[in-house]
Amino acid sequence: MLSVRMAHPLSLIFLLMIHRAYSEKEHVNYIHPCICALKDSSVIMNCTFTYPTGYQIMKVFWTKTTVKNADNEFPDLSEDPEYSQRLQYLGDKQQNCTIRLSHVTQKDEHKYYFRFTTDNPTVKWLGKSGVTLAVTDLQVESPERVTEGDSVRLTCKSSCALTEGATFIWYRNSQPLTERRDRNNQLLLQSVRREDAGRYSCALHGHTYISPAVQLSVTYAPKSVSVSISPSGEIVEGDSVTLSCSSDSNPPAEISWFKGGTFVGSGRIYSISNISSDHSGEYKCKSRNIHGEKYSDAVTLNIMYPLKSISVSFMQSAQFWEGESVTLICSSDSNPPALNFSWFKENQSSAVGSGQSFSALQSGRFYCEAHNQHGSQRSDAVTVIVKGRLVILHISIVCGACGAAVFIITMLILYDMCVW
Ligand SMILES: *[C@@H]1O[C@H](CO)[C@@H](O)[C@H](O)[C@H]1NC(C)=O
Ligand SMILES: *[C@@H]1O[C@H](CO)[C@@H](O)[C@H](O)[C@H]1NC(C)=O
Ligand SMILES: *[C@@H]1O[C@H](CO)[C@@H](O)[C@H](O)[C@H]1NC(C)=O
Ligand SMILES: *[C@@H]1O[C@H](CO)[C@@H](O)[C@H](O)[C@H]1NC(C)=O
Ligand SMILES: *[C@@H]1O[C@H](CO)[C@@H](O)[C@H](O)[C@H]1NC(C)=O
Repeated sequence: MLSVRMAHPLSLIFLLMIHRAYSEKEHVNYIHPCICALKDSSVIMNCTFTYPTGYQIMKVFWTKTTVKNADNEFPDLSEDPEYSQRLQYLGDKQQNCTIRLSHVTQKDEHKYYFRFTTDNPTVKWLGKSGVTLAVTDLQVESPERVTEGDSVRLTCKSSCALTEGATFIWYRNSQPLTERRDRNNQLLLQSVRREDAGRYSCALHGHTYISPAVQLSVTYAPKSVSVSISPSGEIVEGDSVTLSCSSDSNPPAEISWFKGGTFVGSGRIYSISNISSDHSGEYKCKSRNIHGEKYSDAVTLNIMYPLKSISVSFMQSAQFWEGESVTLICSSDSNPPALNFSWFKENQSSAVGSGQSFSALQSGRFYCEAHNQHGSQRSDAVTVIVKGRLVILHISIVCGACGAAVFIITMLILYDMCVW
């Protein structure tokens, strides 16, 4: 109760003083009552003041509140640890009350007032209209993505209106862009190319503060679509083979695979394990996104395989007359085709001939053996039979008694082995 009672008369004096000070005509003139400052920059609050002649100025200072402290005075900003290092009084004690506040941050957004006191305790002023300080950062406003060939406009946004003369600087991937500055705080990219993609930021000329970077992505249809084969080099049946489709596109493309004209699979990788000769052929991939599609060139898979289904066939028949020969042909399936053929007579160790065909002169069981670099294989044996000697006797008997009758008797005499 006591403290309340004590407070009453003091408060009255206080109110009277305030009333008196504020009722006077304005003695403080702020040249820019509202200031929009860029974060981290220095702000000059330009100010002049006048005071009645006959008094002596005791103290000049700035404050950010119209509420007095315990000492019945406004708190002096230069004694505030938040400000003391950054605040510089540029004015004097006569008429100029300009201050500079450096490294401003959002926390400095306030109204600031100039205060002076004179040698007469009742003659003191607070410039109550004050200077309103707004602090802004810069934000790049940009669409996230733009399609190649389109135009895009990027805006460097501030939360308060920066001074008219402010010059904006643009950066892409931290490199300043020299040209293409559009209207004051805008950057116009016309007919966007892929190289225009990047992280864009903006700044004000003469200021160190740079906005956070914003990614601009340029979308385009697939380009440079190609297939690579792993492992490279010769592919042999049973190998595992991987086909990879690479393409440049944004957004990423969907990949599909074709063998000949037939769809065989999808995904960037097409794997074939335990490959067989059936997989031989031409492969290509198709890369597709919302902007278009493109095929790769075709790659050929030529699957090598060792000899299979080797067999011997006869050019004519398996039987022949002595003195003639029979030609045997060795047929085989392999990749690469066999070039090296050897002929054997059954139960003889050394070859009796070479080359894809062989002329047998004697009876016997023959087989061929073919080689390619992946192996060799022998055929089943075939039987060759010499039927015997063909003797044609032309016996012309001229029958004198019959006069005109001529008999020709042709006889086949078979000897050695008789097959009939
Ligand atoms: C402060 O105001 C005066 C008078 O209008 C002007 O001449 C001066 O250039 C201003 N200074 C700044 C830093 O704004
Ligand atoms: C006050 O002083 C500052 C710093 O010396 C100066 O830049 C400014 O122009 C002065 N203001 C006036 C109104 O003279
Ligand atoms: C590979 O394929 C061949 C023929 O298709 C088959 O005989 C063989 O067992 C397969 N091998 C493996 C390891 O799957
Ligand atoms: C052909 O076969 C012979 C005998 O088997 C061998 O010495 C030679 O290296 C083979 N040549 C080729 C090209 O396979
Ligand atoms: C070759 O030898 C095998 C046994 O080694 C035998 O069974 C076969 O009858 C023989 N063939 C000929 C034509 O002599």
